[in-house]
Amino acid sequence: MKTQSEEQATLSRGDFMRSLGMSSAALMAFYCMGTMTSCKSSDPVVTPTVPTPNPGTGVTGTTTGAALDFTLDLTNSDLSTLKTEGNSKTIGDVFVVRVKGGSYVALQKLCTHAQLEGLSYRLANDDIKCSNHGSEFKTDGSVNKGPATIALKKYTTVLSTDGNKLQVKA
Ligand code: FES
Repeated sequence: MKTQSEEQATLSRGDFMRSLGMSSAALMAFYCMGTMTSCKSSDPVVTPTVPTPNPGTGVTGTTTGAALDFTLDLTNSDLSTLKTEGNSKTIGDVFVVRVKGGSYVALQKLCTHAQLEGLSYRLANDDIKCSNHGSEFKTDGSVNKGPATIALKKYTTVLSTDGNKLQVKA
């Protein structure tokens, strides 16, 4: 099955113009106007495509920056591990965890000590540890143990009533 972008890439110029509601006569006039070079309706048309963030991975929306706001489809095979307590995944700028008790926590993925990736959730301790220099954080992002001194930014999470969609927003 073709993706939407593949279909757009194979759309002929004629198909594209017809999709705009132009008649055949108008199409021919349009083709030949000015250049008088090519009147073949099979010429490919390059149409700009609107990128879908991480197509096929169950992630939609903006996953980085100040306007971060995205939704995870937890039924997608790339994300379904997040249905299990203790599992985590990094999506864009965010470290997403299903913590002990079943709620979801979303924190900045970079440790505040040296702005490095390396966070992991420890189910037994219900906390987050950075593998780089050993800083530990509570699941609300606050520092439990240094060398980090600044809390991790925490994002808002909203789980759908059926438990299949998780929204994360700044
Ligand atoms: S970067 Fe995390 S403890 Fe240093």
